[in-house]
Amino acid sequence: MELKIGVIKGDGIGPEIVEEAMKVLDKVADKYGHKMNYTQLLLGGASIDATGEPLTDETIAKAKEQEAILMGSIGGDTTKSPWYKLEPSLRPEAGLLKIRKSLNLFANLRPAYLYDVLSDACPLKESVAKQGFDMLIMRELTGGLYFGERHTSMVDGVKTAVDTLSYNENEIRRIAIKAFDIARKRNNKVISVDKANVLDSSRLWREVVNEVAKNYPDVTLEHMLVDNCAMQLVKNPAQFDVVLTENMFGDILSDEASMITGSIGMLSSASLNDTKFGLYEPSHGSAPDIAGQGIANPIATILSAAMMLRYSFDLDEEANSIEKAVKTVLDEGYRTVDIYSEGTEKVNCSKMGDLIAERI
Ligand code: IPM
Ligand code: MN
Repeated sequence: MELKIGVIKGDGIGPEIVEEAMKVLDKVADKYGHKMNYTQLLLGGASIDATGEPLTDETIAKAKEQEAILMGSIGGDTTKSPWYKLEPSLRPEAGLLKIRKSLNLFANLRPAYLYDVLSDACPLKESVAKQGFDMLIMRELTGGLYFGERHTSMVDGVKTAVDTLSYNENEIRRIAIKAFDIARKRNNKVISVDKANVLDSSRLWREVVNEVAKNYPDVTLEHMLVDNCAMQLVKNPAQFDVVLTENMFGDILSDEASMITGSIGMLSSASLNDTKFGLYEPSHGSAPDIAGQGIANPIATILSAAMMLRYSFDLDEEANSIEKAVKTVLDEGYRTVDIYSEGTEKVNCSKMGDLIAERI
């Protein structure tokens, strides 16, 4: 089949890692008889440099013509890059938030999985790490604090900043349904994370999640307060299967979950709307400190490409072949510098891409 894929290389290490993911996708196309039809799109700093805006209407229109988007990473060094002298709405991150909202990508899936061969890199104590873990964080992506009304003004002579956390029942219901559906394909367990002991938005969250759960008697539901969840992730990560949570909590918890896997360079993500369309990107950022050196770990982006084949194109076999190739290369002892340990073989970004592509 022909796959219409938008490609956002982005900033920092973005272009290097996307290059490797495309290498792997091209190999998949070769082997399984598909045609990858790529359209390059500009977002973030690269778009600011070319057009003065982090995301133009033209790019949104082009993005909507694609079946899926594969993205690297956007943004630069916030203390040094000229992009951060611009007003907030013109900075790279504003482009990312705008594309999520414009394409209605409300469901963000962030799997966090401990590879056996990388369990040494897990910072948790051995008794916890040896139990392993395999969770999927389902983060609401187009509501809450990120998109609520915000302003900074003088109130009685005092400079005051306001951000608003708002959710309506429909926004909660649609993400909850996605979480329960996906739990059915995994281990039938949802832990919904909120702050219902304080926030109204969390109390509504809990109410709606309970309602949705009634249609999934085969899926276990537990509610957990977000502060407790932050502790449980390091105390007993094996208890989690699907973690369902709102935008800001999901941002923070997914970074924590990725950290305990030993390397943020391994984690993929998918941002989905109500159709088959999705935007696929690594969970990590643009790492401007190592950009251009060819040493970045492309695995998270390669695994994001696998998620794209699975969720947007229903090409499960092809997706599995990528995941299997990654595992084989790790089992064979090849490592990029971020996951290197003594006794393994250090390879650069492009070599890692070659090795994985060769094993498809
Ligand atoms: C992420 C990032 C973004 C977010 C930033 C870059 C706006 O941290 O995708 O997790 O907070 O959502
Ligand atoms: Mn984040």
